[in-house]
Amino acid sequence: MAISSIWLLAMLSFLLGNGVSHTETSNQTLSSTSSLNQTYRPSFHFHPSKNWMNDPNGPMRYKGLYHLFYQHNPKGATWSNNSLVWGHSISKDLVNWFSLPHALTPTKPYDTNGCWSGSATIVPHPRGKPVILYTGIDHKFHQTQNMAVPKNVSDPLLREWVKSTKNPIMAPSLGNKINTTSFRDPSTAWLGHDNWWRVIVGAQEGDKGMALLFLSKDFVNWVKAKHPLFHSGKRSTMGMWECPDFFPVLTNGSFVGLDTSFGGPHVRHVLKVSALVGSRDCYLIGTYDTTKDSFVPDKGFEGSESLPRYDYGKFYASKTFYDGARKRRVLWGWINESSVQEDDVQKGWAGIQAIPRTLWLDKSGKQLIQWPIEEIEKLRTKPVNLHSRILKGGTLLEVSGVTAAQADVEISFQVNNLEKAQALDPSWKLDPQLLCSGENGNGTKVIIKRRLGPFGLLVLASKGMQEYTSVFFTILKADKKHLVLMCSDQSRSSLNLKNDLTTYGAFLDVDPLHENLSLRSLIDHSVVESFGGKGKANIAARVYPTLAINDEAHLHVFNNGTFDVKITKLRAWSMKKPKIN
Ligand code: FRU
Repeated sequence: MAISSIWLLAMLSFLLGNGVSHTETSNQTLSSTSSLNQTYRPSFHFHPSKNWMNDPNGPMRYKGLYHLFYQHNPKGATWSNNSLVWGHSISKDLVNWFSLPHALTPTKPYDTNGCWSGSATIVPHPRGKPVILYTGIDHKFHQTQNMAVPKNVSDPLLREWVKSTKNPIMAPSLGNKINTTSFRDPSTAWLGHDNWWRVIVGAQEGDKGMALLFLSKDFVNWVKAKHPLFHSGKRSTMGMWECPDFFPVLTNGSFVGLDTSFGGPHVRHVLKVSALVGSRDCYLIGTYDTTKDSFVPDKGFEGSESLPRYDYGKFYASKTFYDGARKRRVLWGWINESSVQEDDVQKGWAGIQAIPRTLWLDKSGKQLIQWPIEEIEKLRTKPVNLHSRILKGGTLLEVSGVTAAQADVEISFQVNNLEKAQALDPSWKLDPQLLCSGENGNGTKVIIKRRLGPFGLLVLASKGMQEYTSVFFTILKADKKHLVLMCSDQSRSSLNLKNDLTTYGAFLDVDPLHENLSLRSLIDHSVVESFGGKGKANIAARVYPTLAINDEAHLHVFNNGTFDVKITKLRAWSMKKPKIN
């Protein structure tokens, strides 16, 4: 049979079936991929079958299918400054994925050194046509924004893309201060009341990171607005703002997402920027002033250095899209490796995407909430439940019956004796990552006494505890309230000390006096994605155990504090393996 017909058959079976193979659990899958370089390959996180991947690009839903494009180096397992293409996969459910030919490759003078990140916009007239805006890198490594449209809009797979003859359609004009090598990553466009399209582009001017605003009547001819939509202010240490994202959210704590062009009552806007320095995805909540075309951040979001983050672990260059079929806003984010480059080259692939997360505004209006899309729950199998149980200080409890290297775990704790929490020492820097690492930022140690915490999950643990990753809470007392510290500690995750073993931390905005403390961790061989307080603070981590692999991985609950805590609920599942690329 000709290759093309085999490919077509495979695609048909993918589109007709639901993709998940119900008999394949981690153990069976892993025995067939015994070589060590597959040990760290996640089972249910999106990644290409080989080579390098970074940012998610142009996610959208079109004619009943989800599309994910991504930054991909088809030539190897490392990032490349001259051969990045847009990889392309489709899915019916955001869980099973089918790989398609590259959507954009360097073919033109303006993108000869790479097709970099960008976004998709469904332009409503005529008949909802998707348009891609992306950054092209020319022979001098100058950056411009370019456009591509589907060759055939009636093809739901959108297999072929045609670059506009008008490209480049946005370029740093003569006389302005934009650095031509810091001008990239166009966002999804939105339509104003005046019927002009708007788009933001990441940039840097001096030490200011910024989201430049461009306007167009016809989506082809763009003019730069006089002022950026927003910028970091002078003396910012954020560096360039990459991959800006801008979208509306509803105010009443509703999960319902909004189309990017939606404007109306009960709406706030979110501006997300990826700060190049420190690789952090930070966000601001505020008002979009449509007359001035400017963004005014709410109180508490002014200081660019202390902005909240989507995720306090490894999570970067993220992008949302509006999923009209389910009326939700879905977030994609890149989780880089924490291993050394030689290991990536040896295993032949690098980079995964986080499980897509539904994202909405908390009813307080002060923070965003994220939760793994509900479709991922169809991979859950063999549930293990544990009801109310006191976990005494100094206890380690194994959760057996789940494939601990490929699992979804939800746990919730009730904490009494809150008056026993250790008081914050005024000399400590209020930086959760430093507190979790036991450091004060100036080389001195922070010793948090083991009182109310640490308690939480010990994942990917080896039998003899030579390796484990702990995800936990510690409660501290500050003035009149309690501070909940959420940590993901990788320092003991691998005997291979070449890996980045950084400990991550976040403050969790939950009052333990009135609410239980909940934690969910999605464990997938070399990735642990944790959601605290039902998605109020999240931490993604990459880990590479050498002993706690496959069937040798164990899952525990622990309380290393001196006071008891109560487990009010524990539910854990083994996860089935979907079909991914
Ligand atoms: C973010 C980023 C983008 C750029 C792309 C290149 O990770 O640096 O700014 O477009 O990656 O791969």
